Amino acid sequence: MLYDFDWSSLIKDLNLNDGDPKTPNKQFYSNVDGRFNDIINKWISAGYDKSDSVEWINYYPETHFPLRVINHFENWSNTKCARAWVSRIRPGKMAPLHQDIDDNIEQYLSKGQLVRFSVFISEPAPGAVFILNDQVYHMQPKGKVLQWNDYLDWHAGINAGFEDKFMFNFIGIKND
Ligand SMILES: [Fe+2]
Repeated sequence: MLYDFDWSSLIKDLNLNDGDPKTPNKQFYSNVDGRFNDIINKWISAGYDKSDSVEWINYYPETHFPLRVINHFENWSNTKCARAWVSRIRPGKMAPLHQDIDDNIEQYLSKGQLVRFSVFISEPAPGAVFILNDQVYHMQPKGKVLQWNDYLDWHAGINAGFEDKFMFNFIGIKND
């Protein structure tokens, strides 16, 4: 499905240097109770904790882009936003396979059924790849939306291309 929105303006208006970089050198997994040790251990045993190629940079509503983006997507998806962010992967960088870490997940789940979306918001670009479960997405049209089967689905983003790769990520709580 396609979600029609002015993604180009959103990306153009981002202050790229002001994002929240996630790398193995930072506390990007706030693994407060150890529930995600399994993923972290997989990364370490694969050597990702020592890899320069692991990096993604997050941008958040209100802080980095207008809240109206979220309101718009809530209406379209018939959900209330639990969490949303824009992710940027620079050429040569990647987010290895993982499940998303969220220490507030119980709080969201207590409000209803969760729906997770990923939206391709860049122009299709060779080398910009997204993996979700057993599917690989490449050269996807701008505005294409993936609805996940489960918010814990395994996924990865890879940029082997020449331009920054951007995606819009959204966890919603279904409206009754
Ligand atoms: Fe993720």
